[in-house]
Amino acid sequence: MRVTTPQLPAEWAAYYQLRYEVLRQPWQQPPGSERAPDDDAPGTVHAVALADDGAVIGVGRLHAATATQAQVRFMAVHPAWQGKGVGGAVLTYLEKEGRQRGLAECVLHARAAAVPFYERAGYAVVAPSHTLFGSVPHFLMRKEL
Ligand SMILES: CC(C)(COP(=O)(O)OP(=O)(O)OC[C@H]1O[C@@H](n2cnc3c(N)ncnc32)[C@H](O)[C@@H]1OP(=O)(O)O)[C@@H](O)C(=O)NCCC(=O)NCCS
Repeated sequence: MRVTTPQLPAEWAAYYQLRYEVLRQPWQQPPGSERAPDDDAPGTVHAVALADDGAVIGVGRLHAATATQAQVRFMAVHPAWQGKGVGGAVLTYLEKEGRQRGLAECVLHARAAAVPFYERAGYAVVAPSHTLFGSVPHFLMRKEL
């Protein structure tokens, strides 16, 4: 497994497909709902974890929310690969990219079920945040980069 930024058209397609399948489809959200307006902004960093056969098994992105603060969004690992270090590798890659851009801290809105994953990576809960699709509570979390 290796983490890189998507380059081939097929990797980009698989990147958004995995984001959709893990983060939108289970809540009956329509195709296209996985996209964000700033996905194509020049400062947005995208990461894919590729299995040895080239399959996209994990995704995530980071952007600069302010001059000093990074924000991670859309972290998703294929269900068959969860709990095997893929998400951790994607997060580490994104944090390194944020650090290289001079960003001092990183924030994210974690689904309740993912809070322990981010705590393991050094994030602390700041406060409860929004509830997505009427049923998925989130928590604002933060970490020094
Ligand atoms: C949350 C998610 C991105 C984590 O990725 P992952 O590949 O499953 O996590 P990893 O295997 O890299 O886990 C890294 C560490 O966190 C721990 N961890 C991961 N998920 C955990 C959980 N739910 N509870 C407790 N610990 C957890 C692992 O045990 C591991 O610890 P270790 O380094 O001591 O072995 C992934 O499970 C996922 O896509 N979940 C569904 C979608 C989702 O919730 N996305 C996040 C939206 S905010």
